[in-house]
Amino acid sequence: MPALTTTSDGFHLHGEPFRIISGALHYFRVHPGQWADRLRKARLMGLNTVETYVPWNLHQPSPGAPLDLDGILDLPRFLRTAGEEGLKVLLRPGPYICAEWDGGGLPGWLTADRDIALRSGDPRFTAAVDRYLDLLLPPLLPYFAAAGGPVVAVQVENEYGAYGADTAYLEHLAQALRARGVEELLFTCDQADPAHLAAGSLPGVLATGTFGSRVEESLRTLRAHRGEGPLMCTEFWVGWFDHWGGPHHTRDAADAAADLDRLLSAGASVNLYMFHGGTNFGLTNGANHQHAYAPTVTSYDYDAPLTECGDPGPKYHALREVIARHSPVPDEPVPAPGPKLPRTEVALGRRAPLLPYAVASVPAVRGADPLPMHALGQASGLVLYRTSVPAGGDGLLRFTGGVGDRAQVFVDGAPVGVLERERGEETLPVRLPGPGAALEVLVENLGGVNYGPRIGDPKGLLGPVAFDGTALRDWECRPLPLDGLDGVPFAASGTGPAAGPAFHHGTFEVGTPADAFLALPGWTKGLAWVNGFALGRYWNRGPQRTLYVPAPVLRPGANDLVLLELHGTTAARAAFTGEPDLGPPRA
Ligand code: GLA
Repeated sequence: MPALTTTSDGFHLHGEPFRIISGALHYFRVHPGQWADRLRKARLMGLNTVETYVPWNLHQPSPGAPLDLDGILDLPRFLRTAGEEGLKVLLRPGPYICAEWDGGGLPGWLTADRDIALRSGDPRFTAAVDRYLDLLLPPLLPYFAAAGGPVVAVQVENEYGAYGADTAYLEHLAQALRARGVEELLFTCDQADPAHLAAGSLPGVLATGTFGSRVEESLRTLRAHRGEGPLMCTEFWVGWFDHWGGPHHTRDAADAAADLDRLLSAGASVNLYMFHGGTNFGLTNGANHQHAYAPTVTSYDYDAPLTECGDPGPKYHALREVIARHSPVPDEPVPAPGPKLPRTEVALGRRAPLLPYAVASVPAVRGADPLPMHALGQASGLVLYRTSVPAGGDGLLRFTGGVGDRAQVFVDGAPVGVLERERGEETLPVRLPGPGAALEVLVENLGGVNYGPRIGDPKGLLGPVAFDGTALRDWECRPLPLDGLDGVPFAASGTGPAAGPAFHHGTFEVGTPADAFLALPGWTKGLAWVNGFALGRYWNRGPQRTLYVPAPVLRPGANDLVLLELHGTTAARAAFTGEPDLGPPRA
């Protein structure tokens, strides 16, 4: 018998009535040096449980490699730490996780095979999932309740009813977990809609809902779907995420608190999505594609109770008060905001232009036509394409099939335009100086779609390129996954304005490491690293204006800042500040 069981209207834990009051906290979005702090703050808000997804794409970056469980991916350590804090854990191992995460967590090496029917009983998909679970579950089982650990329930898939209706596939996943020793309660989650619940549920597996408002109506829908059993909102959306170029979403704390009160008053269990959102570090953000492609920003602050830097915001206090009306909260003071780094200016006085460095140091893969990113064995980052043109003149460059996702075009090293998937752009008027001119196209994967039928959409250049109707052939394709900075040939450059894609380097002194926010006024678009830790993308399109720098990334004494700026800056200077700027709030 699992530790967590269901009754006609609730849960029992080890035979005693138990209401799940949980909050989402994705370990892979929080520096591991801060896990213990965030988990303690979860308990102090009155949560008895935390929930996390598991990102398959990070844990298994290639099909043959051993599972990566190091550093920020040390899930066993995260589970142990949660248990030490007295918290239970809801585990959501996917394989698909959505979560505004690159590709919804499906690995690029798997989605590269366009023939595989993702999230289905296609044996090529389920075989890959089975191999993954073979690797993932043995190191986790010691942390399951059956072995005395904190994991009390495991989710099967994620909002599957919004995607498909292949019940045999869901059944396969449930059996795959059972066959590998998972004895705990299994559950599915779906949007509170009768059709979604019907398509996404399994007999004998608890069906739960995802919703952030219309509480009574959503609970009625859940009850209509299952006549008895616990009512559980697995994602109670207390905030929301942002897209580049879109508004910064916030949700009023009092409004979220009132809805949480309704939920708890109805006797339901809950998982706050998110309790603490964290950050899409590096190149890990996902994207939506409903009417148009829309990549998600670096911050996953989510306007959650615990802010991106782990400070309790107004929503922390408001939700804690509501929880206290329904279940005991620890009689300990609410944690104060953490210390912040004093304002620190950085001069980035060394530079390495990207295009010549890439051409000199990255071996080219040749193709008659440009090869998409997955054909280069690459899951994220940039690709530099290069050919020499057979004729000059004014004309139209046509990128058949468009670009994935943003292409910067250069003629003999000079920028001549940008094409974006977001805007459906496929053509660019250019002037080519003459035969033999170098045409270079630098294409950025802005994040894999994580929801709906476009998961796995290809990146890079997606088809042949023509100039005024004549195909341009014989391309050099250079993968730039940006997974390290070794070998970047920095040279002294001064700190004035700079144009063109380039790495920039500067050092700065830190007394006592503390959280900071990197402000980049005058810079355009790129990626930032501190001491080799990839903070994520920045873009002056906003709404996000600063990047979160976790204190454990900094060290006393000299620290390094590297920016890969894709366009240019008015001055090679940056600043660390004590205040985040995620853009003007719009409810
Ligand atoms: C759904 C998904 C989550 C997340 C939220 C929006 O509910 O299940 O993974 O994408 O939407 O933040």
